[in-house]
Amino acid sequence: MAAIESVLKENRVFEPSEDFKAHANVSGMEGYNALCEKANQDYEGFWGELAQELITWKKPFTQVLDESRAPFYKWFADGVLNISYNSIDRHLADKANKTAIIYEKDDGSSENITYQQLYERVCRFANGLKSLGVQKGDRVVIYMPMVPDAVVAMQACARIGAIHSVVFGGFSSGAVKDRVQDAAAKVIVTANESVRGGKNTPLKATVDEALKDGDCTSVEKVVVFKRTATEVPFTEGRDIWWDDLIAGQAAECEPEWVDAEHPLFILYTSGSTGKPKGVQHSTGGYLLGAMVSMKWVFDYKPDDVYWCTADVGWITGHTYIAYGPLAVGATQVVFEGVPTYPDAGRFWQAIEKHKVTTFYTAPTAIRSLIKLGADLPKQYDLSSLRLLGTVGEPINPEAWMWYYEVVGGGRCPIVDTWWQTETGSNMIAPLPGAVAIKPGSCTLPLPGIMVDIVDESGASVDQSNGGFLVISRPFPSLLRTIWNDDARFQATYFPEELGGKLYLAGDSAHRDEKGYVWIMGRIDDVLNVSGHRLGTMEIESALVANPLVAEAAVVGKPHDVKGEAVVAFVILKGDRPEGEDAKRIAQELKTWVAHEIGKIAQPDDIRFGDNLPKTRSGKIMRRLLRTLAKGEEITTDTSTLENPQVLDQLKHSV
Ligand code: WTA
Repeated sequence: MAAIESVLKENRVFEPSEDFKAHANVSGMEGYNALCEKANQDYEGFWGELAQELITWKKPFTQVLDESRAPFYKWFADGVLNISYNSIDRHLADKANKTAIIYEKDDGSSENITYQQLYERVCRFANGLKSLGVQKGDRVVIYMPMVPDAVVAMQACARIGAIHSVVFGGFSSGAVKDRVQDAAAKVIVTANESVRGGKNTPLKATVDEALKDGDCTSVEKVVVFKRTATEVPFTEGRDIWWDDLIAGQAAECEPEWVDAEHPLFILYTSGSTGKPKGVQHSTGGYLLGAMVSMKWVFDYKPDDVYWCTADVGWITGHTYIAYGPLAVGATQVVFEGVPTYPDAGRFWQAIEKHKVTTFYTAPTAIRSLIKLGADLPKQYDLSSLRLLGTVGEPINPEAWMWYYEVVGGGRCPIVDTWWQTETGSNMIAPLPGAVAIKPGSCTLPLPGIMVDIVDESGASVDQSNGGFLVISRPFPSLLRTIWNDDARFQATYFPEELGGKLYLAGDSAHRDEKGYVWIMGRIDDVLNVSGHRLGTMEIESALVANPLVAEAAVVGKPHDVKGEAVVAFVILKGDRPEGEDAKRIAQELKTWVAHEIGKIAQPDDIRFGDNLPKTRSGKIMRRLLRTLAKGEEITTDTSTLENPQVLDQLKHSV
C-alpha cells in the first residue's frame, strides 16, 4: 500500500508541549511508565483499582479476573452494575443541567440535550420497550440514522438489560436480515428515513424488505422514529411509532442491575468467512475500557466539548459516542450529516460553532477533505481545539502533517488510536501528555495492555522485525465470544498454532527502536475501505449469489482517499462479456452488491475473465490477482498455473 510505504520512511517526532503536559491526566513518560510498572507488578490489582475508582457499582466485585475457563475470561464477575446508570443517573446530582449532547443536524441547525433531559428520554423509551415485552437478555436491533435518539435507544436497552445490536444505517435489507436472524431479535428500532447531505434515505422500507418473506420469525415489533414528515406504510400489529410508544410512559425507570459479565451488545463485523461475526461485549469490562481511554487517551476534562464523528453503527460510535463520553459526564457533539455538506468546511465550521476541544475522526475523512479544500480550515476559528484523534486505518504522514498543522495549528497532539470492534476500546495510542508522537505510528500500548509481535509459532520477534500483532494477557474490554459461536471465537482469536493464549488481532505490525508500533495491515482477507471493515469472502458470496455469476474473487487495491478500493474478478456462467455488454453487466453487479450488503461494499473495479488464475490443484492465486489489481506487471513465475492465458484478460478493468 502506498500509505504503508510512506509510513515506513517516517522519522519526525513531536514531543508534548510543556503546557499540555502540565495539565494532562497522565503527565510525562514518568506518569506513563509508573502506570505500566504498576500493571506489570500487580495486573489484577491495577485493573481492580481502576474499576473501583471509575465505575459506580450496585454491588462491588470480590474477584477481578477469572481465568478458569480461558479464553472465556470473566472480569469483575460478581460485581453488579448498570451501564445506563453509570452513563446518566450518577451525573444528575451535580450535572443535571450540563449539556450531554449537542445534536448538530444535517441542515446546520443544532439542539442541546442536558443530562436531565437525556435521562428522561432514555427512561421513557426504556419503559416503552418494556411495554412491548422486551426483557433482560432479549435482543433489540437498532437501525437508525445518526440522531441522539439512536443513543437513547442504545442506552434504553442497556438500562433494562436488553442486548442491542446496532446495524449501520448504510447496510442493505439483506445485511439487516442476516443480523436480525443471527441475533434472533425481538424488536427492531428504526426510523422512517435518515437525512444526510441534504438527501433522505428510507430506513423503514429497508426493514420491511428484510422482514417481508417472513424468515425473521423472532421479530415481534418494529418501532419507527419519525425523523422526517414522510409517511411510511405500517404493518398492523407489528409497527408502532416511537412517539406513540413513549406517550404516557413514566420519565423514570429503575435500572435493571446486571452482573458485570451480562452481555451489553452484539456488533457484527467482517472476518475471513462469508458470514459476519457477532462480536459480543460485556457490561463491566467494556465500560472500564471506555472510561479509562476517555481519561488517558482523550485526556478528558470536565469542560471539554468532545466530538467523535463516527456513526453509532460502528464500534467507534458505540464506545466513543454512546457510552464513553457519557460515562465520564462529557458534553459531546452528535453529528447527523456528512463532512462534505453543504461543503468540505462542515467539520471546521461546526468545531468553531460549538467550540469543540477534542476531535476524533478517520484518516479517510481527512484525506478526502484535503482533496476538497486544503485551505478551508483557515476560514474558521479552530482555536478551541486542544486534542485531535484518528482511528480505523493507518494514517499516511502527509495527511497526518496537514491535520496537525492546518487543523490543529501545530498545537494539538494527535492520538492515533489502534483498536478493533473486538477490543472494545483503544489499545495502542499515545497518551497525549506523555508519549511523543510520530506521524503514522499508533505508538505505545495503553498501560495494562500487553502488546507483542510474534511469528507463526507465537514466539516474540526481534525488535524491528514484522509479525502478528497479539495481546498476551486478557484485558477487561475484550470481546467475550462470538454470539452463538464459542468455537469460532476460540479458533479465530486464540488459535492453537500460537499456543492458545495469545489474542490474535488479525493485523501485522512491527516496532521501531523506541518500541513504537507501526501497523502494516491485515493478515486475513479483510479489506479496509474508507475505514470500514469488509470481508472479501462476504463480497464474493454476494457476487456469486447473482444468477449470472459462476465464480468471483475479490481483493483490495491501494486508493488515495479510501485507503483501499474493492476489485472484483468475475467469471460469468455464460461467455466472457466485452464492450458495452461488459459495462452493463459490471454496473448490474455493482448495484447487486449494494443491494446485498450495502453501498460501502460495492466494487470500484470489475474485471471479467474466462477463469480465475488457478494452480493445477485448483487453488485461486490471490497473490497474482492483487498484482493485477494494482495494475502491476507479474514478474514472478507463473508456471504452476493451470491457465496463464487468463492473466491477460484480467488486466483490464471494464
Ligand atoms: C484497522 C475500528 C492502523 C486495523 C476501531 C484493525 C487501524 C481494524 C487503526 C479494526 C489505526 C484500526 N492504525 N490501523 N489507528 N485503527 N485499524 O473493527 O486493521 O472496524 O484490525 O475497528 O482497523 O477495524 P474495526
